[in-house]
Amino acid sequence: MRRKIVAGNWKMNTLPAEGIELACGVAKGKGEVCDCVNLIVCPPFTHLYSVIDRLRDTDIAVGAQDCATEVKGAYTGEVSAQMLAALGCEYVILGHSERRQYYGETSETLNKKMARAYESHLTPIYCVGENLEERESNRHFEVVKAQIEEVVFNLTDLQFSKLVIAYEPVWAIGTGKTATAEQAQEIHAYIREVLRSKFGAAAEQCPILYGGSCKPSNAAEIFSQEDVDGGLIGGAALKAEDFIAIGKAF
Ligand code: PGA
Repeated sequence: MRRKIVAGNWKMNTLPAEGIELACGVAKGKGEVCDCVNLIVCPPFTHLYSVIDRLRDTDIAVGAQDCATEVKGAYTGEVSAQMLAALGCEYVILGHSERRQYYGETSETLNKKMARAYESHLTPIYCVGENLEERESNRHFEVVKAQIEEVVFNLTDLQFSKLVIAYEPVWAIGTGKTATAEQAQEIHAYIREVLRSKFGAAAEQCPILYGGSCKPSNAAEIFSQEDVDGGLIGGAALKAEDFIAIGKAF
């Protein structure tokens, strides 16, 4: 049985007080969600600690949205994996398409960030996904394969056993367009096959989340697919009731 995960990526949204209120709302609704589902919230850096503090007595985990490539030192503006772990973060989103697209993150950068995350015992949620042009020219399989080969294939078996992957087609992020359940299953199964070619049977245990305009009205259908183990939720994670409704979609 693979772990089921619903993770909220708040992106650069909510001021501290709003973030705390959102976290409290999620905590309040958690009882409605099956215990078999791991809920994770990923607030901005500025209120990570307040949210961790509020969620201390719950089983809702907290993740960051990024971490530095370096361990420590003269890197103005950066936040290290070790700092995040010291706050009580358990997860870190790495390789989100917005970071790849707007901040020039490459496989080289991401290999470093993955190493830092594991050194600090953070679980990476590694994001992959193709853009519209790549999908339309039928190159989505090769794009996703390269994103996995160039980064995930460098992990040890032990590191891989802790990894979470999120497949997020760029054309579906924040656009209201969602991959169909069949499209999601097709590429999730493909991702698992690529993982199997390197890590063997351990690939069966790796949670692969879907992300891209996932909402209460479409989550159940997407999550019902065999190789979809949950979701990485953007917009709909900003309303506690929607996030909880997605958690209940399993
Ligand atoms: P969205 O974002 O749910 O708003 O499409 C998902 C994501 O980027 O993680």
